[in-house]
Amino acid sequence: MTDSGYFIAFEGGDGAGKSTQVRHLVAALEEAGREAVVTRQPGGTTLGLALRDLVLHGQAVSPRAEALIFAADKAQHVQEVVLPALARGAVVVTDRYTDSSVAYQGAGRSLGAQEVADLQGWAVGGLTPHLTVLVDVDPAEGRRRRGGTHDRMESEADAFHTAVREHFLAMAKGDPARYLVVDGTTPPQEIAEQVRQRLVHEGLL
Ligand code: TYD
Repeated sequence: MTDSGYFIAFEGGDGAGKSTQVRHLVAALEEAGREAVVTRQPGGTTLGLALRDLVLHGQAVSPRAEALIFAADKAQHVQEVVLPALARGAVVVTDRYTDSSVAYQGAGRSLGAQEVADLQGWAVGGLTPHLTVLVDVDPAEGRRRRGGTHDRMESEADAFHTAVREHFLAMAKGDPARYLVVDGTTPPQEIAEQVRQRLVHEGLL
């Protein structure tokens, strides 16, 4: 863990509206004169983009292979993007991080939350966000918002997405100091304000 920069992750189900919130937050950070580095997983690096294509659009990826590909993406991402930015004092905002794997591979694919958390922790050298914003949305609402586009995860049945959602909520409940849970059906401006307030409280804004 670095003590100069600040690391924020947005997590949540597919179609929750994370990306919109990332944009709002970056605007607020830049207005406050902070350097904000935005990234997303999978795919924040050249290797990550190739891995993203394999894991989301490839054929026949076994659950354990899937977990390892997501872990490899994060290992590269932390090394190449996150750590250098934190070291120079930037605020790094990532669209998804290790909790996505714990929820999707651990709970959704039933690989075991603790095993996947251990694998992810190893991949990122134990780097934990200072704050994780969970944008919570009901799977049916997420599916409605996503419309027609379906990658391998999005094509999963609602039961998969329900298991993912419940696991995200359980992680947040277990560590309220590190999570902010927002209702994804609230108007985006209001969610952005809740996130901003939390960061004011944390002394970042
Ligand atoms: P993406 O197109 O980035 O979707 P979103 O806009 O919802 O973030 O797709 C990423 C998909 O990969 C999403 O369904 C969640 C899944 N995922 C995992 O299963 N494990 C992981 O570790 C990560 C980072 C994402």
